[in-house]
Amino acid sequence: MKIAIDGPAGCGKSTVAKEVSKRLNIPYLNTGLVYRATAYVCVKEGIEPDDALRVFEKPFEVKLDVAKTEVFYRGEEITDRLSSEDVGNVASQIATVPAFRERINQYFRALVGDGSVVAEGRDAGTHIFPDAEIKVFLTASEEERARRRYEQLKAQGMEVDFESVLKAIVERDQRDRDRPLYPFRPAEDAVLIDTTGVSVEEVVERVLKLVEERV
Ligand code: DC
Repeated sequence: MKIAIDGPAGCGKSTVAKEVSKRLNIPYLNTGLVYRATAYVCVKEGIEPDDALRVFEKPFEVKLDVAKTEVFYRGEEITDRLSSEDVGNVASQIATVPAFRERINQYFRALVGDGSVVAEGRDAGTHIFPDAEIKVFLTASEEERARRRYEQLKAQGMEVDFESVLKAIVERDQRDRDRPLYPFRPAEDAVLIDTTGVSVEEVVERVLKLVEERV
């Protein structure tokens, strides 16, 4: 069974997708993490976002350990370095390059094959796994999403101020939505859930109910 959970930055999709994966005992795939790892490598190696496809070539080596949700660059674990809004912003620039999106989607499909997955991102239900049995699109108000991101970054020990996080989220959403090819949109057959003021447990329960009803 394939479950696609999409939504904008800070909508709670990682928390929900991880919990759903745990309860159903299905592997969890965080697609944004690979965009972020690519962004990290581009900045580190001086590669322009437009040339991000090079990161799939030798000598660059980005590897995702799906079971552990850890990313490695040339054998070194870089997962902890990927959560900043700066990395997210470069990831969102790379995400506007259609050839990169096509390549990275092939990579995700090859990783999962015929197996089950709870995949989260921006296009898990539209382009990566258009045949997913369950498609969920999470939303929340901009302020709530910025507040969640702010709390998350602070908890990771980063120095952040709320206004900058809000501004970064608004800009990133706009870029993700306005890219001419593969713009970020809910799948037509996705179930929309507004998570503003709703607990994680409640959202998880709603997704699990959809699974029960549809499978
Ligand atoms: O989910 P995230 O914030 O970690 O994603 C970082 C950026 O990567 C996001 O702004 C857009 C891009 N992205 C994408 O375009 N498609 C995906 N499936 C996942 C991420």
